[in-house]
Amino acid sequence: MMPDRPPTADPHYVFAPHRVHSGEHHRWLSAAFDPVTLTRLAATGVTRGWRCLDVGAGGGSVARWLAERVVPEGVVVATDLAPSPELTGPGLLPLAHDIVADPMPPGRFDLIVVRLLLQHLPDRQAVVERLAGALAPGGWLQIDEFDVSYEPPLLTPHPRAELLYRKFLAAKAAVLREAGGDPHWGRQAASAMRDAGLVEIDPRPHIELRTPESASLRLQIHHTHHLRDRLLAAGLTDGELAEVRAVMNDPSFRAASSVFYSVQGRRPPVEAGGRASHE
Ligand SMILES: C[S@@+](CC[C@H](N)C(=O)[O-])C[C@H]1O[C@@H](n2cnc3c(N)ncnc32)[C@H](O)[C@@H]1O
Repeated sequence: MMPDRPPTADPHYVFAPHRVHSGEHHRWLSAAFDPVTLTRLAATGVTRGWRCLDVGAGGGSVARWLAERVVPEGVVVATDLAPSPELTGPGLLPLAHDIVADPMPPGRFDLIVVRLLLQHLPDRQAVVERLAGALAPGGWLQIDEFDVSYEPPLLTPHPRAELLYRKFLAAKAAVLREAGGDPHWGRQAASAMRDAGLVEIDPRPHIELRTPESASLRLQIHHTHHLRDRLLAAGLTDGELAEVRAVMNDPSFRAASSVFYSVQGRRPPVEAGGRASHE
């Protein structure tokens, strides 16, 4: 199941593995989004014996949750360019794998989840089609992804703070675009799944309140460190980054989160003519 060449860094992925930052990045992602992702996954009925795939599994919180449900007969293949050492446990199969370039892991999956990866990749539609093609008949694909076109500040300590926060968000979106990503792509996930032949498409948007204690805002503060070099190249200064961190830590700060779309779809259980589509 291993690709026949070592995985390389993905030039489109701006949060490249980092000795200090990656662990914190994955912890905030898990704290902010597992409640939505796992509730949606549970609704598929995932249970003992299912064969699952978590693409770009990161710190592995989703893959570990799935593995607890599918063992002992089932398995969760958890891929990443360089799988984290946290991707261990009963039922978990870590795999060094580039979803753009490497052959798909063999076999058909009852459930595939890909969270917060597709917006970074080139030719997302081709990747969605590969994922749809790897599903068993009736199998589920869940794509969880952002659209950052809506994430307004609601209450800031002073007018300049609002301008700074907006400038930071705009610079971050520019950094993602510069690397070939589309930070608005979450809104297109449902139609991408339809175009890949999936059915029962069910997109659910989620918006939260960002407060200084919320994981969603801690993630933004984390980005000011993790993406510092790229944000400077995009025109921010270290002074502005320090100021916007102070703004986000101000107890009065409130903002709406970006839209987090959790979209599910299924491979048709049977093809026209009544034959199971894998027969
Ligand atoms: C933003 S993180 C999300 C991690 C995890 N899915 C989550 O939501 O907590 C994106 C992950 O995708 C991985 N990744 C980036 N490019 C990839 C590629 N071409 N193929 C597979 N994984 C990739 C990164 O290494 C990172 O772990």
